[in-house]
Amino acid sequence: MNRKITVVGSGNVGASAAISIADRELADVVLIDILEGVPQGKGLDMLQACPVEKSDSRVVGTNDYADTAGSDIVIITAGIARKPGMSRDDLLNTNFNVMKQVTEQVVKHSPDCIIIPVTNPLDAMCQAVLRLSKFPRERVIGMAGVLDSARMRAFIAAELGVSVENTHAFVLGGHGDTMVPLPRYSTVAGIPITELMDKETIARIVTRTANGGAEIVKLLKTGSAYYAPSSAAVEMAEAILKDKKKILPCSVFLQGEYGIKDLFVGVPVKLGAKGVEQIIEITLTDDERAALMKSAAAVKELTDIIGV
Ligand code: APR
Repeated sequence: MNRKITVVGSGNVGASAAISIADRELADVVLIDILEGVPQGKGLDMLQACPVEKSDSRVVGTNDYADTAGSDIVIITAGIARKPGMSRDDLLNTNFNVMKQVTEQVVKHSPDCIIIPVTNPLDAMCQAVLRLSKFPRERVIGMAGVLDSARMRAFIAAELGVSVENTHAFVLGGHGDTMVPLPRYSTVAGIPITELMDKETIARIVTRTANGGAEIVKLLKTGSAYYAPSSAAVEMAEAILKDKKKILPCSVFLQGEYGIKDLFVGVPVKLGAKGVEQIIEITLTDDERAALMKSAAAVKELTDIIGV
């Protein structure tokens, strides 16, 4: 492989992302954690899965950032996850401190990389990483919208009994309780779901999407979702590595787009080799715009607390 992806954090999300990258033979993978032995053990286990998966990705686990040097992409999953009763926002201060430690090392060893933060509260952590790294905004891209829209797509497909491949879902805003699923722009084979389902059904899907993470936390009791979050992060990494110019909802640093300035909020963007290559602005109704502004205000509350 001549491409390298570092995954910081070898817990549930990080390990799932690493194995998915290796399975798809996207790049060599470096899995790094502060826990001694865990990234090494998981990395070795994944390396031994590669012959079966017909993948020549080289996977290595480490505690030493020197091994991450020259990464093309760094996916940050380090930090604590939610337990029942906690919101993503409850993780703020602990995970901000983790971002400080991680970002410094990432920038030192991979100054040209593209960073995909996954750690929650997502939008505030992205803003912390952007400020700490001093990277241009094109190279810090938060994973949230791909996950939120994947959840909505799964619910739409199940409701209508159609292939998930036929579904597109559109979710704007911060990755929190105030996220803004947009039924008008969510489609099945190009047909807006507003043509295919009644209002009550759509409202139920929208609510379940916004509470999608909490529903899983409640069931797991010991942590939060990781299969869909890691799949979503890897889809973003793939779009970047393959320069696909794929339009995906991501958390990016807005500078006036959608009337929002200097804040990470989820919007549709074009992902390619340079990272964020375009921010796509769509027309919103008054209600949708108000919901987006409310969501942005919730992100701003958090970024103000940690002063980023
Ligand atoms: N540097 C590197 N790794 C760290 C650091 C650090 N400073 N601090 C913690 N970690 C590691 C932990 O040792 C642990 O292995 O991060 C890992 C987190 O793994 P889990 O506890 O399994 O959490 P996970 O479910 O993977 O979620 C991680 O992603 O989706 C978000 O909300 C979620 O913020 C959470 C993050």
